[in-house]
Amino acid sequence: MNTDLKTTILKYDRAVPRYTSYPTAPHFKEGFSRETYVGWLEALPAQTALSLYIHIPFCDVICWYCGCHTKATKRYEPVNDYVDMLIREIDMMAAHIPNHCIVKHLHFGGGSPTILQPAEFKRVMDALYRHFTFADDAERAIEGDPRGMEDDKLKAYADTGINRVSLGVQDFDPKVMETINRVQPYEVVFDCVERIRKHGIDKLNMDFIYGLPFQTLDTTVKTMHQALTMTPDRLALFGYAHVPWMKKHMRLIKNETLPDKSLRYDLFNKAAEILRGAGYETIGIDHFAKSDDPMAIQTRDGNLRRNFQGYTTDAANALVGFGVSSISELPQGYVQNQPHNILYRELIGNDRIPVYRGIEKSAEDKLRKDVIDSLMCRFTVDVGAVCVAHGFAASALDDCFDELQEFERDGLARVEGRVVTIHPDALQIVRIIASAFDGYFKTGIARHSKAV
Ligand SMILES: C[S@@+](CC[C@H](N)C(=O)[O-])C[C@H]1O[C@@H](n2cnc3c(N)ncnc32)[C@H](O)[C@@H]1O
Ligand code: SF4
Repeated sequence: MNTDLKTTILKYDRAVPRYTSYPTAPHFKEGFSRETYVGWLEALPAQTALSLYIHIPFCDVICWYCGCHTKATKRYEPVNDYVDMLIREIDMMAAHIPNHCIVKHLHFGGGSPTILQPAEFKRVMDALYRHFTFADDAERAIEGDPRGMEDDKLKAYADTGINRVSLGVQDFDPKVMETINRVQPYEVVFDCVERIRKHGIDKLNMDFIYGLPFQTLDTTVKTMHQALTMTPDRLALFGYAHVPWMKKHMRLIKNETLPDKSLRYDLFNKAAEILRGAGYETIGIDHFAKSDDPMAIQTRDGNLRRNFQGYTTDAANALVGFGVSSISELPQGYVQNQPHNILYRELIGNDRIPVYRGIEKSAEDKLRKDVIDSLMCRFTVDVGAVCVAHGFAASALDDCFDELQEFERDGLARVEGRVVTIHPDALQIVRIIASAFDGYFKTGIARHSKAV
């Protein structure tokens, strides 16, 4: 490990957005007009590649590190009721989405979509197939909790065309897992993976988190080797975002059990070293993929994309979200659904599109988004060329370069003319450098987690 590089990077650790959208969600405006949203949908041009996102905001129990929009439920009735609302929303929205749009991607996220029993899962899939035309090779993915994926659910996924499962794993160390309220032995995950493949679903992602309580270099080495026994196609290695001011259950994780930023840096780099040694390629700042995986190929070709699910191969130009809190991304801007279950139910019950907030992207937002996406996905950007491509003068973002000087001095970035290139080993600094081009960040409206 290069200790000089580490010391330099840690000096810069600050709280910045994750840039899964730009403008980022805290800048969306409440009271956004339903009519505008409907107008954007109805204007989607012929042959639009469409991506659909379905949010299931329930889990059996809450993991104490969880930053997702979800709640625990012991009873199935609220889940069943939610599916009724979701289908009403799909029915209502489909009337505004032109028939000529082709679905290329479907993603069930949460929460734990695997909480749905086969009957409810099939009801949702039936509604989607009833209203939308899917490309034959469409990716159909579900995020799953390995502790609750019984065979009848896997059969329902396979029968309805699901072809990718993304498993939440996080770690395998018993002490780490107990401390985050997620008892999930290696054998449970291993067995789940075998059964997923036995049902013919052959694309597998796994999520891991570094920076969790009691993680050490030894536990991380062991966890990564255990992960490799299951040969996932893709792995995500997220830095634990500890935001107890937003998520009260995170207060159950004691600060003194958390790795400090120096150890966090080492944990990520050790895990990355093991994955690269096993032939995985680095994707963006926190993903790894087998070299023949489409995500690795797109990264090598410079076509990696980023959306609300993080890094994606999804080339769709319109993403429509269904369910509480889900976010839609259309060429004109973003719209978020009502995040409160009761208010969402009320709106759907009154046949109203459950819009909570949104934003129309200005020409400058679109320009800044392209610059930030390029840095997040490719670690390099020709700022002048992007400005010109958006109809601005090549010098339009020149004032952002002042902030880059310190990174250049420290060897973390190179600036040649208006081309910015980030050091390939400085993955933790990418979000921070990207924030130099964020026109909203300095307003300080939102509080974020640290970058390292
Ligand atoms: C919706 S969950 C995955 C599916 C399922 N609910 C599960 O946990 O098995 C999405 C992923 O977000 C990541 N995640 C959740 N909270 C996080 C946090 N505070 N910081 C970093 N990553 C987090 C975890 O890796 C988790 O697997
Ligand atoms: S990490 Fe997954 S299973 Fe755990 S509470 Fe969050 S959404 Fe639910």
